[in-house]
Amino acid sequence: MNIIETIDQMNNEKYSYQQEGKSVGFVPTMGYLHEGHLKLIEESNKNNDITVVSIFVNPKQFNQQSDLDGYPRDITRDQELLKQYDVDYIFYPDSKEMYPTSLTIDLSLSSRGNVLCGKTRPGHFEGVLLVLSKLFHIVSPTHAYFGLKDAQQVAVVKALVEDLNFNIQIIPVPTVREKDGLAKSSRNVNLEPLEREEASHLIKALYVGRKCLIEHGLKRNEIIRSVNDYLNKHVTGQIDYVDCLSYPTLSNEITENHAIIIAVAVKYKKARLIDNFILNSNGDFIYKERN
Ligand code: PAJ
Repeated sequence: MNIIETIDQMNNEKYSYQQEGKSVGFVPTMGYLHEGHLKLIEESNKNNDITVVSIFVNPKQFNQQSDLDGYPRDITRDQELLKQYDVDYIFYPDSKEMYPTSLTIDLSLSSRGNVLCGKTRPGHFEGVLLVLSKLFHIVSPTHAYFGLKDAQQVAVVKALVEDLNFNIQIIPVPTVREKDGLAKSSRNVNLEPLEREEASHLIKALYVGRKCLIEHGLKRNEIIRSVNDYLNKHVTGQIDYVDCLSYPTLSNEITENHAIIIAVAVKYKKARLIDNFILNSNGDFIYKERN
């Protein structure tokens, strides 16, 4: 396992694996790795000759300095974990390496960005697009792995590679959950004990939305209302959003022929939690989840 801190070094490695014609799986992360990240790495290992994992807490995608400062980091622990997996390279640049000068180019979204997390975290997806465009160029993978916990991110990344012709296959990976259904997240360590107990209600709220869909059909407002009512009764955290949209286009016109996403976000004192189900119009899961 090679730990690479500079773009120059990564370029050298890239030229050799490209010359050998290898398939390269890329798993971009912000570190503080958990089983969700590890699932992506397993998928990459299974299907590629080489796996590259990046660890970079991208300042451009945080809209609050306090959130960036409070983001958990532990590179020693991450390295130990990755040694147990078949990872070929860890790309671990610092901010100066990734952003040596102020930028002239700005990326923005014309759709998919003004709903869900894009609405409540202005600038977030622009920062994600920016860092991923750079990382995709630096690593030049054949495949890149993204978790469906961040389903809007997957939708935005798919648009990025299609619109800007990145020759990379985007592979969505189902959400990995704790035993009580809470989606694994680096931010879960910031939950207080009572908040952690309460957090299992997010997935239950999604099941309420799914039941509403199965029983009453594609009635967007009713689905949203049922999920909201459940959350209002069961969580003390602030409900950031509840929505039901087409997937991956993220429009509020939902139709029988397209997948839909039911998505929730709840804000606690030091952690904001998100979760979603992606379903067809009969309520069947499109991506099989593993608990
Ligand atoms: P990060 O939050 O570290 O997540 C890295 C990848 O792990 C993302 O694709 C995310 O969706 C996936 N992931 C996180 N929790 C998961 C879970 N419980 N189950 C399955 N996959 C999970 O997402 C980012 O970093 C950043 O925005 C990044 C893409 C690295 C760009 O900076």
